[in-house]
Amino acid sequence: MNNDTQKDVLISTRELTKRFGSKEVLKGIDCDIRVGEKVAVIGPSGSGKSTFLRCLNLLELPSGGTVVVDGATLFHSDMMLKKDALDAVKAKIKALKTGEYSEEVQAHKAELAQNGTALAKAREELKDAQSKAKLYAIKASRSSGSVTEEDVAAAQAQCDRLAADIAALKEQSSALRSKIKQKRAEAKKSADPARLAELKTELAAAKAEFAEAKKQHAAAMRVTNASIDEHRRNMGMVFQHFNLFNNLTVTENITLAPISLGLKDLKAKRRELLKRRLRGEDISEEAAQLPDKLEIIENAKTTAKKLLERVGLADKADVYPATLSGGQKQRIAIVRSLAMNPRVMLFDEPTSALDPEMVGEVLQVIKELADEGMTMVIVTHEMNFAKEVATRVLFVDDGLIKEDAPPEKLFGDPQNDRLKEFLSKIL
Ligand SMILES: Nc1ncnc2c1ncn2[C@@H]1O[C@H](COP(=O)(O)OP(=O)(O)OP(=O)(O)O)[C@@H](O)[C@H]1O
Ligand SMILES: [Mg+2]
Repeated sequence: MNNDTQKDVLISTRELTKRFGSKEVLKGIDCDIRVGEKVAVIGPSGSGKSTFLRCLNLLELPSGGTVVVDGATLFHSDMMLKKDALDAVKAKIKALKTGEYSEEVQAHKAELAQNGTALAKAREELKDAQSKAKLYAIKASRSSGSVTEEDVAAAQAQCDRLAADIAALKEQSSALRSKIKQKRAEAKKSADPARLAELKTELAAAKAEFAEAKKQHAAAMRVTNASIDEHRRNMGMVFQHFNLFNNLTVTENITLAPISLGLKDLKAKRRELLKRRLRGEDISEEAAQLPDKLEIIENAKTTAKKLLERVGLADKADVYPATLSGGQKQRIAIVRSLAMNPRVMLFDEPTSALDPEMVGEVLQVIKELADEGMTMVIVTHEMNFAKEVATRVLFVDDGLIKEDAPPEKLFGDPQNDRLKEFLSKIL
């Protein structure tokens, strides 16, 4: 890569991973998004498209890898990799010491789990049978004739049978536990001491590496947290479900963030100037140039008005979102993001919650933005839109980018088998 293309890169990820618990959703995404690119992200449901987008602006904290935005490293961590390595060594030691992964122990464990399920079921059945037996006993004692002594005896017999089943299952489980324990003891005795010593050395090294990575991770996160707000401002995000505040008017929705951030900035600048004045500097000229609160508010309102005009919704400035159609709400949500003057817009299926007749108006707004040169990443199921507007399409499958090509190429001559299958289903 030469320096020019490097310079144009706005967002860059390397080895980006994300896990939820033990589920690995992103498995190592390397991706560069350059200024002015319109990147469509397609792929099957659950493949990780939304997670990828959310990791780009750190709405979701990645588990590992690197996210660089505009040259600034927002996230960097290989802690998870080190943790995996450590866990792998631990597992090896455990296996060696306890025979945990021998087929026999695994089979016993599976049987034990099955027993547990059967036991729970039998206990439920016993409860029902006992209630029934009690009811029968009462009915029989009233000698209304609807329940006979035989019925009572049969119900009681059913209870006894179930109780016996439960006892047998318990005994089996207990025997299985003893067997597992015995196997573990045997494994421990026969564990090769040389191999064990080797693994222990490995363990110590893995532990040290993990501890170091953890330290670095903590340091990196402090940097990330310090710069995250600043960077999020540069990344507008539009979701499937608009996420407008229903208790605020359209204008209030749009101006909320710019005003609060504007005031926050103003406060910070004033504090900075005050410090300098206390140090004896002459700051009068700079202080005079600071906007006042009212100006910030008025500017935000003016911007909102202009943006509303641009998307044909000037007449909705003072209404509440509840009175708007889905398409209108989504156009407002886009305006709300634009009001922050972002450098890149991230869209997550902006039209999939809309009635079909409203899709067009929203896509039109996005298309106009694209034509004006806005950098954008858009997760979409609208393949025609992707073909028409995107400069590049990413096919995400199973947490990885499986294909990355201009739309003509990706749709016209797909290479990856999963992509071919995906396209055959939707086109
Ligand atoms: N907060 C979370 N906690 C646990 N699992 C999650 C979370 N968010 C997403 N997942 C899981 O991660 C996987 C990927 O989800 P993601 O929303 O990124 O998929 P997607 O490609 O956007 O799918 P769709 O096309 O349906 O929107 C799914 O299996 C999902 O269940
Ligand atoms: Mg999604």
